[in-house]
Amino acid sequence: MSKIQFKTTPNGKLSGILRVPGDKSMSHRSIMLGSLAEGTTHVTGFLTGEDCIATMNAFRAMGVKIEGPENKEVTIHGVGMHGLKAPASDLDMGNSGTAMRLMTGLLAGQAFDSTLIGDKSLSTRPMNRITLPLKTMGGAIDTEEGGRPPLRIKGGKALKGIHYEMPIASAQVKSAILLAGLYADGESSVTEPGITRDHSERMLRGFGYDVKTSGENGKDISLRGGGKLSACDIDVPADISSAAFFMVGASIAEGSDLTLQHVGINPTRTGVIDILKLMGADITLSNQKEVGGEPVADIRIRSSQLNGIKVPEELVPLAIDEFPVLFVAAACASGETLLTGAEELRVKESDRIQVMADGLNTCGIDAKATPDGIIIQPGQLTAGTIDSHGDHRIAMAFSIAGLCASGEIIINDCANVNTSFPDFIKLASDVGLGIVY
Ligand code: S3P
Repeated sequence: MSKIQFKTTPNGKLSGILRVPGDKSMSHRSIMLGSLAEGTTHVTGFLTGEDCIATMNAFRAMGVKIEGPENKEVTIHGVGMHGLKAPASDLDMGNSGTAMRLMTGLLAGQAFDSTLIGDKSLSTRPMNRITLPLKTMGGAIDTEEGGRPPLRIKGGKALKGIHYEMPIASAQVKSAILLAGLYADGESSVTEPGITRDHSERMLRGFGYDVKTSGENGKDISLRGGGKLSACDIDVPADISSAAFFMVGASIAEGSDLTLQHVGINPTRTGVIDILKLMGADITLSNQKEVGGEPVADIRIRSSQLNGIKVPEELVPLAIDEFPVLFVAAACASGETLLTGAEELRVKESDRIQVMADGLNTCGIDAKATPDGIIIQPGQLTAGTIDSHGDHRIAMAFSIAGLCASGEIIINDCANVNTSFPDFIKLASDVGLGIVY
């Protein structure tokens, strides 16, 4: 267990203006597509968290020259669709499920062998969800028992396009198939059971690749293999998943008035805004514009009395990473909150249903884990010592809980906050959260 421990002090409020770090999903994809493009891709607003650095190092290990990050800027000298070189050693994806799953898709289509490894948490996460469809496409991937990493990928396989009815709503699965599809013969297509983040589709189009979307709410996505990517400039907006901590914090801490700048509000990511508004949050958007094919806005949040809700199931994939902190909002609301249809939370960086239920119980809240969700009865959060299980979002969710707790919350095992939110403590302190490490 890492020794990094956070300690909160109660009674803060959040105010001022804040720009949280860049979007993690887009930062990963900018490195991947920029590396495979022809020409030089320039990225601004890049997330310098450990997850995206792992992706960057993997491409460097495959011969791509990448400059930066410096001032959140990265320059990628693309090598073209067939220009990657065999890495000299295993590619370490650290804590990042996105990096491992998307990379497996694109490595399945390379001429060389590769092995993807990860940290303790990633090594327990399910990879069958991508290896099974990729094998149907002709990919050759060995896993450990139960489909766990390391993933050993054999190169030199001729991939063929498939149609895949996705059994779970997962942008990582969709993206792995689309990235493999770039190398496959013919058309590769997926049908999603629920709408998931569409950054891969948008960014592929930004690099000049034809991706077709059709069907109700755009649930059918397809592309043909054999095309090429042309370098472009990418402005990565602030990550709505990082902004979410502050949206909840400003909602629950009386007297708060906070503006979050230049946040990505792609409609496949805004479930957190919809859920908080259903709970009665005071959230307004301004300065809405489109930057590089992605909508962004400034988001102002003022404190308000939240009420418990039954979370609409169709919003679950659109807020999938934001539930830890939404559970904190539910703990501070009036009336019960019920979440169902969210079993995916059990296979994230930690079992986020159980770990959050345990942590909330420790802080005096009646929270009951169910197989696919949670039932939370609000109450007064008390002091307590929480085990984050090395999960960045659990650590940050309980940091926010500190705003409304009657005493100090101590959170253990917080080093992985650096995977998605470098400088969390500093930025959070700047806007009024009482927190030290
Ligand atoms: C991501 C997709 C989501 C999300 C993850 C990032 C992506 O995972 O939880 O943090 O960038 O594609 P699933 O698609 O597996 O739900």
